[in-house]
Amino acid sequence: MSFTIRYDDNNQELMVAGSMSPQSAGELGELRKIFEKSARTVNGTLYLNVKRLIRLNNIAFHELAGLVARTCQEKPELKISVVTSSVVGWSARKFSKLARISPNISVEQYDKQFYPGQDVLEDGGFIPILRTQTKMTWRHEREILPRHGLKPGMAVADVCCGIGDFAALIYKEFTPSRLIAIDHAKPSLAYARKVAADFGIKGIEYVYGDASQLLLDDNQFDFVTCRHSLQVFDRPELILKELFRICKPGGRVYISNEKNSHCLGEPRAESIQWTYTEVAKLWDHFKMDIELGPKSRRYMMDTGFEDIRMESFMVTNLDGDPQDFADVIQAWEDVYAGKMAAERGDSEEFIKKFRQGFQDHIFAALHPKGYAGWPIWVASGRKPA
Ligand SMILES: C[S@@+](CC[C@H](N)C(=O)[O-])C[C@H]1O[C@@H](n2cnc3c(N)ncnc32)[C@H](O)[C@@H]1O
Repeated sequence: MSFTIRYDDNNQELMVAGSMSPQSAGELGELRKIFEKSARTVNGTLYLNVKRLIRLNNIAFHELAGLVARTCQEKPELKISVVTSSVVGWSARKFSKLARISPNISVEQYDKQFYPGQDVLEDGGFIPILRTQTKMTWRHEREILPRHGLKPGMAVADVCCGIGDFAALIYKEFTPSRLIAIDHAKPSLAYARKVAADFGIKGIEYVYGDASQLLLDDNQFDFVTCRHSLQVFDRPELILKELFRICKPGGRVYISNEKNSHCLGEPRAESIQWTYTEVAKLWDHFKMDIELGPKSRRYMMDTGFEDIRMESFMVTNLDGDPQDFADVIQAWEDVYAGKMAAERGDSEEFIKKFRQGFQDHIFAALHPKGYAGWPIWVASGRKPA
């Protein structure tokens, strides 16, 4: 049995994490002591955070339920809010039983709607974007990754893996000793598992998880990647902190992000520029920062990384077949000027102009004398030994 219990007075939050499987209630003295003390001191709402409680046997559940019930009797004005996570499958179901004890107890799943762009990203609508993008970026990344420290035989985690294609390519190219790929979008993970099965790849562990609350131990991986994902989260520093935590001392964390307003093309540069500036504003509406790329250095320094390496590369229509580049832009148009613009409530007139910029970018990409570009920033940092 290994669990931690901590009380944070600032948030009136009692955090219970780990695996709680005692043989007898007598082993839970510490839990009782901290629970009762915090319940005595708190007014208003006491938050019981079980987001990282991965195992709980019946003895422990009854003990917790007893503590909650007694608190409700002794302090009838106190509210208790139990916070679970969908990542721990049984959690919401089991803890919802506590809500029957008293109307003052509520049980919520914190990651049901935990960031503003979530439904856009998690309903599978992003899959075509992710599919087309990797086709264009991998030729650059396979050269760049070794410069940031990726070597064969390493233990690697790809956090926010999307449809898992990056993990699959790393697996083939760099033969890691362990490769775990994590995402919070179930349709993307289902797609990833299917692709891996189709290609006969057996060595990747695809795991449902929350990047800001990983159920992984500290200091596990030599190389941790997180591609195009800090930019979709409204608090990227929380994810970066987790990437830092699971990385081994001396290991490296590698991130890539965009600055979409710097997408460019000739001819029709002006319309293209206008549309991508609007893309940045649209993402900002959903509290996502698609301009994050050049800010990576600051984020990494603030998290405590050292030996920070940073570079940028431009995906262009001259990288292979220009139609592949055009497919990426079309996938962006479909989602950004489709679901996202509609959800923001944009006018028909705006959407028409917005779409035109994407079409002009495609025109530039496919024009025999045209040039179209999509810039990406990569950064990596070492966790101090
Ligand atoms: C733009 S996609 C990038 C996917 C992939 N890394 C790639 O480069 O193709 C961002 C991904 O982050 C995932 N994501 C966002 N927030 C997450 C969280 N808190 N935990 C895990 N995954 C998350 C989304 O589900 C989505 O698959």
